[in-house]
Amino acid sequence: MIYLDHAATTFPKPEGVYRGMDAFVRQAGANPGRGGHRLAQEAERMIEETRALVARLAGAARPERVVFGLNASDGLNMAIKGTLKTGDHVVTSVLEHNSINRPLERLERDGTIAVTRVAAGPDHRLDPDDVARALGPRTRLVALTHASNVTGTIQPVAEIGRRVRAHGALFLVDAAQSAGAVPIDMERQAIDLLAFTGHKGLYGPTGTGGLVVGERADVRPWREGGTGGDASRPLQPEEFPHRLEGGTPNVFGLAGLRAGLQWVLERGPETILAHERGLLRGLLLALKRPDAWDWYGADGILLDRQGEGRVGLVAFNARAGAAPPQAIAAALDERFGIAVRPGLHCAPHAHRHLGTFPHGALRISVGALTRPEDLDAAAAALDRLAA
Ligand SMILES: Cc1ncc(COP(=O)(O)O)c(C=O)c1O
Repeated sequence: MIYLDHAATTFPKPEGVYRGMDAFVRQAGANPGRGGHRLAQEAERMIEETRALVARLAGAARPERVVFGLNASDGLNMAIKGTLKTGDHVVTSVLEHNSINRPLERLERDGTIAVTRVAAGPDHRLDPDDVARALGPRTRLVALTHASNVTGTIQPVAEIGRRVRAHGALFLVDAAQSAGAVPIDMERQAIDLLAFTGHKGLYGPTGTGGLVVGERADVRPWREGGTGGDASRPLQPEEFPHRLEGGTPNVFGLAGLRAGLQWVLERGPETILAHERGLLRGLLLALKRPDAWDWYGADGILLDRQGEGRVGLVAFNARAGAAPPQAIAAALDERFGIAVRPGLHCAPHAHRHLGTFPHGALRISVGALTRPEDLDAAAAALDRLAA
């Protein structure tokens, strides 16, 4: 099977991730806890190392403000539900994943908040001035994706962050598609809350991810429980990370995430992103009939500008609706052994923006371990289907 669905989750993981998980859970798979026995302390140490690696990757000043949860959705929910109050206004965009859309929609329908959704331009980018114009006296939060999982475009978060900070609101960035490939610097980009997932570009296992909480943000505790210390306190401790981390953490998963982060940091996100852009450019160059497909502007950027401003995914459709994306994905899977993702990609407004709602599009997404020959095979299969 040729796996081209890395935007959903990267697979396979680097060998060190499997080995790191296996070794850790055989040798020190205890329940972490400060002041516990040696194995508990070793598990605690591993988790603190993983926090420090996330902080390094995110340009966050204090590792203890890296909060672990299940995935990016967990981090986004923590941020949205832990900061908003009745009467608040939130600015978001049409490019968001349902992990932002749905919690906001719920709060809006409850009558708790009001939401403004900023449109993207024809190049699928948000204009920082449009975001600034949407800010109002009650705006507490601006919640935006760093890189769209449908259009693949990287958003100008630093320019947006400056405007949001000047206004006094909080800036929440969804780094599900960017962390590990696009450089992030929470300080420089004025990001207050950064939601990340461990199982995509950080090459960890599923069930890892969370939220980095900047100095300006305060997030209410949501899942209260044991924290491996401070047991006499009747309420959840105020201090990070325990404030937001009740219960036994995913020790197996975090051991894998630590290995994944080490692997990514050794290579460097920029190197990984250049590799991924090169692969998608190779796909377009290998196609004999690129015009049989609608690329929504990605083809020009990949061919003429080396994929500048994009992450390693591309959405496309058979031109003039010649066949629905689901049928093409099924043919790629069954006839050619190629895994791609069709449909709405959990981002219905992004597909409305592209004009591809309700059927969606096909999406090819690559990872650091994808080989050029995998894209050659995809190009040959697409040429056969186009014929
Ligand atoms: C842009 C974006 N945000 C959020 C998510 C949710 O990530 P997770 O499934 O890890 O919660 C995804 C996953 O595809 C995504 O692409």
